[in-house]
Amino acid sequence: MKPTNPPKTYRVKNFGCQMNVYDGDRMGELLSEQGITPAPEGEDADLVVLNTCHIREKAAEKIYSDIGRLTKGKTQKKAPMIAVAGCVAQAEGEEIMARAPAVSMVVGPQAYHRLPDMLDKAVKGERATDTDMPAIAKFGALPKRRRTAPNAFLTVQEGCDKFCTYCVVPYTRGAEISRPFSDLTEEARKLVDAGAREITLLGQNVNAWSGEDDAGRAVGLAGLIHNIARIDGLERIRYTTSHPNDMDDALIEAHGEVDKLMPYLHLPVQSGNDRVLKAMNRSHTAESYLKLLERFRKVRPDIALSGDFIVGFPGETDAEFEDTLKLVDEVRYAQAYSFKYSPRPGTPAATMDNQIAKEVMEERLARLQNALSRDQMAFNAASAGKTCDVLVERKGKLPGQWLGKSPWLQSVWFEGDVQIGDMVRTHIVEGRPSSLRGELVSD
Ligand code: 5AD
Ligand code: SF4
Repeated sequence: MKPTNPPKTYRVKNFGCQMNVYDGDRMGELLSEQGITPAPEGEDADLVVLNTCHIREKAAEKIYSDIGRLTKGKTQKKAPMIAVAGCVAQAEGEEIMARAPAVSMVVGPQAYHRLPDMLDKAVKGERATDTDMPAIAKFGALPKRRRTAPNAFLTVQEGCDKFCTYCVVPYTRGAEISRPFSDLTEEARKLVDAGAREITLLGQNVNAWSGEDDAGRAVGLAGLIHNIARIDGLERIRYTTSHPNDMDDALIEAHGEVDKLMPYLHLPVQSGNDRVLKAMNRSHTAESYLKLLERFRKVRPDIALSGDFIVGFPGETDAEFEDTLKLVDEVRYAQAYSFKYSPRPGTPAATMDNQIAKEVMEERLARLQNALSRDQMAFNAASAGKTCDVLVERKGKLPGQWLGKSPWLQSVWFEGDVQIGDMVRTHIVEGRPSSLRGELVSD
């Protein structure tokens, strides 16, 4: 590679989960500390960071086509310097370097604090790869936050030790680690100072978070939530994603004790059939999962439930798939994510017998999504007539229109004279398939 002028502007393109959004923001802040500014909307960036996801489908292929479009001038007039970050970088860093000469930097999700050093090299014309997994080191090395959206993310836990047989996360994000209580309290406070009114605590297994409070007592996620809830100016707390096996009494009870903790729980189940769950190495059953949800509903009857599903796991029969539909009928999710099984290289399920045909998966997914949309519509319809707080997040499509979130994480749109970051009382006049229409309640 030829030496080049240091980039003046950057753009981060995030794929995949909310943790990538958090990581993408942090990379942006690191670049800003180097004097590189975000490229204005619609203008070329000198440096493009592709922050990739490896969880499903042909994510890596998408990255190569993105790289192709960037270098051939299809995405922007001038080809930028390219960095590939995130989980594809972690899993396939060497291949990327070999296959895509236009890529200057490959940086794994645990190593992006070293981005500035890598950039120094890239400017000299040297290509740089860093996919080490030094666990917690990156958090300490990250710069201070400047400003933030009203709804901010805070990574409290990263990695996974569960090894569900379909999943790449334990390989790309590494072992479970929890960031220390005091660091998190401090970062939460800074987020609020920087404009956050809602904080979503993030982790691949966020409810596996553990630490010691300021008095040296062992605490779980509930302890952290109680502490963060004391921050003045912070109005809402959420957390995602949880694992059924890491739920403890304290976290369930927190939903009845902490007003700022929103009535929403994302708890993936993946399948409603015990044989499939076992083959997935989920170590919970459909029944134990349902019992857990019952306990949440007891302390917080209005809680909105959300989940993740995989259809067409190797060997899944029609009857086993029907069990998933039965579970959905029983739970009545407010909202959920569902996916066709996608074999991930290096995971045990990828080499299991009886991989399910694409057409079968598609049919099952359509049926499942039908049921989930039906329930989401019913949940939204039941919101009509309620009055609730809405945190204003952004402008809507039409002039004068605004979009925000209800306590139950529904998107609410309305008209009025408000600002991003306002918490406004809103009367819900209509529930739609994936949003609510509201009207501001005048004082
Ligand atoms: N195929 C399909 N879906 C998957 N997920 C994770 N791995 C796979 C895979 N190999 C889904 C799970 C998980 C969500 C983040 O992505 O439902 O909860
Ligand atoms: Fe993947 Fe299972 Fe870990 Fe979730 S719990 S990140 S699905 S291995």
